[in-house]
Amino acid sequence: MNMQSSGNKNLGLDRDAIWSQLRDEARSAVQDEPLLGALIHAGLLHHHSLEGALAYRFSLKLASGEMSEQILREIADQAYRTSPELGDAARADLMAVYDRDPATHRLLQPILFFKGFQALQAYRMAHWLWQQGRCDMAYFVQMRCSECFGVDIHPAAIIGTGVMIDHAHSIVIGETATVGNDVSMLHSVTLGGTGKEDGDRHPKIGDGVMIGAGAKVLGNIRVGHHSRIAAGSVVLHEVPSCKTVAGVPARVIGDAGCPEPSQSMNQLLGLGEDYL
Ligand SMILES: CC(C)(COP(=O)(O)OP(=O)(O)OC[C@H]1O[C@@H](n2cnc3c(N)ncnc32)[C@H](O)[C@@H]1OP(=O)(O)O)[C@@H](O)C(=O)NCCC(=O)NCCS
Repeated sequence: MNMQSSGNKNLGLDRDAIWSQLRDEARSAVQDEPLLGALIHAGLLHHHSLEGALAYRFSLKLASGEMSEQILREIADQAYRTSPELGDAARADLMAVYDRDPATHRLLQPILFFKGFQALQAYRMAHWLWQQGRCDMAYFVQMRCSECFGVDIHPAAIIGTGVMIDHAHSIVIGETATVGNDVSMLHSVTLGGTGKEDGDRHPKIGDGVMIGAGAKVLGNIRVGHHSRIAAGSVVLHEVPSCKTVAGVPARVIGDAGCPEPSQSMNQLLGLGEDYL
């Protein structure tokens, strides 16, 4: 599998090279800041694979007085062992953060320090439990993810790979929401219901969509591929592909400005001829 980095930083790493690069960065970080040695050893250098490091981090962060680290570690180890797509998704998410977030200079930052990435991997674990029919354990992981990271994603929601949740305060994604591949979203995004519908009531976000901070997308509406939703918008109607919407309630204000807004993180509002 070739996990080419697509953005400006373009590490061009394949699957195993991601883990090698992480370990190199970890060794260098310990040299630079010996006081973080124990954390970096336990979090990265002690492990034989990215999956091992992720399982450790998941169990360490989400354990509580009600649930031991050991039980969560066993769940995560089993999930990564039996469902290799979880490790593939984590790698794609990691490269998404590295490529798109200008504040990310090393791969170890999301693994050790960024709660958006860690919360997304916790959601993936909850979704895996949900698919196994272990719904109450999935709800437990959802609750702890919300308590620890401020990210509340229903375990039944379906989220693609190569997704970045930047900053990740106050993210809510409802039960029947779907999020495509290569989506980027910033903090305080809600993919929720209007409160007027039952059943399938949450948004369906296409591939490559960029959702700005504080945007609320409400109802069972489609957001087309490679569109952009401006910060603070309240989106109540379908969004065409490759368009930018803004405002409360949101309306189309122009084209998306580039073919892949979620990857370039192009946040310039182009008020073009489509302005309505
Ligand atoms: C306000 C709300 C209850 C709908 O009320 P409603 O009276 O049925 O409103 P309608 O859907 O018929 O819309 C009426 C008008 O208000 C606008 N509108 C609806 N909700 C709006 C909102 N949240 N912000 C701004 N305008 C809104 C609609 O665009 C519409 O405008 P128009 O007449 O110019 O087309 C609903 O949209 C809402 O905001 N629910 C809360 C959802 C929420 O918090 N979800 C999070 C779940 S995690």
